[in-house]
Amino acid sequence: MEVVLTGIKPTGTLHIGNYVGAIKPAVGASTNPNAHSYFFMADYHAIGGDADTVARTTLEIAAAWLAVGLNPDKVVFYRQSDVPEILELTWILHTVTGKGLMNRAHAYKAAVAENEATPGRDPDQAVMMNLYSYPILMSADILMFKAAKVPVGRDQKQHVEMARDIAQRFNHNFGETFVLPEAVIGENVALLPGLDGRKMSKSYGNVIPLFASEKELRKLIMKIKTNSLEPGLPKDTADSALFDIYRAFASDAETADVRKRYAAGIGWGEMKQLLFERINLELAPTRAEYERLIANPREVEQHLKRGAEKARAVSRPFLAEIRERVGIRSFAR
Ligand code: TRP
Repeated sequence: MEVVLTGIKPTGTLHIGNYVGAIKPAVGASTNPNAHSYFFMADYHAIGGDADTVARTTLEIAAAWLAVGLNPDKVVFYRQSDVPEILELTWILHTVTGKGLMNRAHAYKAAVAENEATPGRDPDQAVMMNLYSYPILMSADILMFKAAKVPVGRDQKQHVEMARDIAQRFNHNFGETFVLPEAVIGENVALLPGLDGRKMSKSYGNVIPLFASEKELRKLIMKIKTNSLEPGLPKDTADSALFDIYRAFASDAETADVRKRYAAGIGWGEMKQLLFERINLELAPTRAEYERLIANPREVEQHLKRGAEKARAVSRPFLAEIRERVGIRSFAR
């Protein structure tokens, strides 16, 4: 069975754009009976900044995935740091990773380029080794579980290609060991507009948080930008953030109905109310479950620990084999 694996870096607050663009499709895909899915919280990738924030966000993101419906019995859902074999493999992979390959990583290059653009700054200022070797840790995540398919955002494609290169080099030097992974980029993932009509993004400050309270959700939806056409005048669905967001949540039939109401001149106030009700219908039970889980962190941890046991049932024997291959062996054989 094909292994599909993806990691979620626990940083920041989730918004409804993440939900319709990434979380919901991933949870849907994880029910595919022909795939063996691994989902993990990439907390080793998130450390280095404020410790409480890392811990808190790891809980929040894990609770979010569970609340949205990820079934921890059907997939392997774990915290990266609960699988220490990944770190040992990371070191072993360092031995087959060219420094030149890491020099080409976009994230590292961007940090250096920013320093170079600042007069008087050393190019390596505040560049930590974990940024430099980030792709090696990510390769260990992927290669450890013989993942063939790795669903990621476009910005992570290069990292998956590096994992492939590293796997190839290891296989060449030490014999067929790793599966060569391939990135799966969601081409048709919905890009949701934010409050101001630009792409919904934390950096634009135009997001609707996934777990906003009902009151806050309504308040934010009322702020979504529209044109100034009066009620009664026909409206265009193209270029309407309200329509695009509605469509991302609604069924085709509901969307067709709203299209008609645009043509018939629905007022913006009425449309906002309709959108609020539609989103809230879907999110209210998810929000309630999320809040329940956040109030019961031990339950979330239990799920993750059970997931780590499933993961380690694979990583322990595989790491033993890898150690043999590279020459870390018992003398008493
Ligand atoms: N680097 C990814 C991100 O920033 C998260 C991640 C870590 C990951 N390890 C992974 C994704 C392995 C896919 C596979 O989003």
